[in-house]
Amino acid sequence: MQFVKRVSVTVSMAEEAVLGYLEKNEEIKDSGEFAAERGIDHNEIVNVIKSLHGFRYVDAQEIKRESWVLTDEGKTYATVGSPEVQLFFAIPPEGISKLDLQKKLDPSLFKIGCAQAAKNKWVDMGKQLISRKVQNVDDKVKDLLLQIQQGLNIASDDIKALKARKLIVSQTWNGYSLKRGPNYAPKRKKVVTDLTRDNFQSGEWKELEFKEYNYSAKGQPLEGGNLHPLLKVRAQLKQIFLCMGFEEMPTNNFVESSFWNFDALFQPQQHPARDSHDTFFLEAPSTTKILPEDYVQRVKQVHESGGYGSRGYAYDWKREEANKNLLRTHTTAVSSRMLYQLAQKPFAPKKYFSIDRVFRNEAVDRTHLAEFHQIEGLVCDRGLTLCDLIGVLHDFFSRMGMTKLKFKPAYNPYTEPSMEIFSYHEGFKKWVEVGNSGMFRPEMLQPMGLPEDVQVIAWGLSLERPTMILYGIDNIRDLFGHKVDLGLMKKNPICRLGID
Ligand code: PHE
Repeated sequence: MQFVKRVSVTVSMAEEAVLGYLEKNEEIKDSGEFAAERGIDHNEIVNVIKSLHGFRYVDAQEIKRESWVLTDEGKTYATVGSPEVQLFFAIPPEGISKLDLQKKLDPSLFKIGCAQAAKNKWVDMGKQLISRKVQNVDDKVKDLLLQIQQGLNIASDDIKALKARKLIVSQTWNGYSLKRGPNYAPKRKKVVTDLTRDNFQSGEWKELEFKEYNYSAKGQPLEGGNLHPLLKVRAQLKQIFLCMGFEEMPTNNFVESSFWNFDALFQPQQHPARDSHDTFFLEAPSTTKILPEDYVQRVKQVHESGGYGSRGYAYDWKREEANKNLLRTHTTAVSSRMLYQLAQKPFAPKKYFSIDRVFRNEAVDRTHLAEFHQIEGLVCDRGLTLCDLIGVLHDFFSRMGMTKLKFKPAYNPYTEPSMEIFSYHEGFKKWVEVGNSGMFRPEMLQPMGLPEDVQVIAWGLSLERPTMILYGIDNIRDLFGHKVDLGLMKKNPICRLGID
């Protein structure tokens, strides 16, 4: 704490010195000289200049200079004297033998001292005796080193010599020249960042100057988790359904029996979709254990011989086929369970939706994976018609930004009539298929026990399709699976609206 306090005192002294000087003088030519004259550390002056320049109190121009600093060896000589002078004074007036002199001095000092002293013609290096040639010597090297240490300029020949002896090295020196800036004031106005209770109580707020907001400053990058585009679009779709008054169905079972996935939906057991080329069947557990028996009987009946105004498919319905476990191929399996449950209670109209994963044994290409997500909605009420379905679809898809819709007759084993849904894509300038829909057949609803006048309108679409269009991804493998670049999650916008 002590330390921090001291630094801030010197910084403000440095600031006062700079601003005070500029009040009476045009400019500070050299921050280095300015600092030296006042005995202030140059680094502190530089910090102050940078800050004052930032707030435009001063205009600062950078100055770069080559300067010289002492090496460790140079620093030693600057304090204890050069080796040649030390050697000179180690020689008594009557002279000394080389051996004795060597004993008195450090070996490297002896070596350098001899060479330099001889060069200066200060000593006579006789074979027997080393003796002084002059009465007295000045330590010019030490003086020069001290001058450099003080930042004084010295002659270039001297510099050359000291550099050759590796007593000094060059260093780039950075300083500034400065003038008053557009916001110059002799004293820095303290701008406050927070309005406090004290400011109010003391009335000080009237005079205070507040720091301006920097709206263009970038915030810290967020380190938190990121949602995958599929999850973002899923959340938006969930919101759309909730706004339309739909309830979410529980989809937490990827494994389903063929019964709920196909049979309950009046899909005949010979239907190609029930082939292992299209559907993933489970090896273990390979069959389901519990099914509602009386309902199973009614389903068997409707497949084999019809009823409820239908002729059925006229084939031998096999329980073993219905028992087979699989990875659900559509979320309509969930819808069939929910409608069956609904039929077990006194009838009440319902609007249900689900968004979850389904699996199909498909060849993987740029638009197909063996697993994807389905969005499904259904409305169950008395007296619904195809018009209701078309109306609900317009409402639902326009909330996703798809306002131009077209419908094309289609076939599903469990709906009649059935319609494929197309939306006009403004970007692609063409109609693209966006979903499938229909009215559930009486052969599906009546065996469940729903009243005769109850109709169910329903539709389904993939979550991947709108997500790829919204996020401009044209290969599904870039959206989902092990090849996905994780940066996809970090870089994409939080939310995208409108599919066109
Ligand atoms: N289950 C259909 C599919 O997988 C979608 C659908 C749902 C169709 C509801 C009609 C009614 O494509």
